[in-house]
Amino acid sequence: MVELDALSATREGYDAVAGTYAQMFRDSLRDSPLERAILGAFVEVVRAGGVAQVADLGCGPGYVTAHLAGLGMPVFGVDASPAMIQLARQAYPALRFDLGSMAALNIADGELGGVLSRWSIIHTPPPELPGILAEFRRVLAPGGHLLICFPASDGPSRPTQVYDHSVAPAYQWWPDHLAATLGDAGLAEVFRVVSRPEPTDRRQFLGIQLLARRA
Ligand SMILES: C[S@@+](CC[C@H](N)C(=O)[O-])C[C@H]1O[C@@H](n2cnc3c(N)ncnc32)[C@H](O)[C@@H]1O
Repeated sequence: MVELDALSATREGYDAVAGTYAQMFRDSLRDSPLERAILGAFVEVVRAGGVAQVADLGCGPGYVTAHLAGLGMPVFGVDASPAMIQLARQAYPALRFDLGSMAALNIADGELGGVLSRWSIIHTPPPELPGILAEFRRVLAPGGHLLICFPASDGPSRPTQVYDHSVAPAYQWWPDHLAATLGDAGLAEVFRVVSRPEPTDRRQFLGIQLLARRA
């Protein structure tokens, strides 16, 4: 019940802002060489693993899905927001975008070489996170990689904390705590990158990009 409520709030929130969100972010990778480098490294490790199929889970308007496709990676997007999926399909008609929930993916066991979760767990209530990570693991082939991006909380004494977000309630995660939760789900950390906010950024917390591998 709690899970449904959170998902409904997220879906309705992103349906309402989908057009604005797409306008704000669709060209954002162009000015982010470091983001592009991390996504490029992700594509390389997935390719090296031999199962070249990636799902961009919580893909929003699909611009990152399209970027991965542009790097030659077979990829599709999944999102809970019908408005986001509609925008993604309009903008990138050659690509596949599915409406769906990260908690119950319509993807076979071990089908994927890679999962990208780019800022898509931010609205997941902490008790529901282990179930979603277990689902990421289920759809990954052995040796498959997860690239997960999330905002960090203030410290280990506050492993998760709610923050002010204009779309739906959102959470920050302490990186070591999240890495341990990934480990419990069978996803071992490979590396993490920490981004520091600019002084002018409205939100003054760290951004984490963490690569993990299914055993
Ligand atoms: C902050 S946006 C990130 C979008 C995109 N990944 C990006 O990097 O711009 C979060 C997206 O995750 C989706 N999302 C959040 N929780 C989800 C869930 N449980 N299942 C599917 N999609 C979800 C939202 O609908 C939204 O489009």
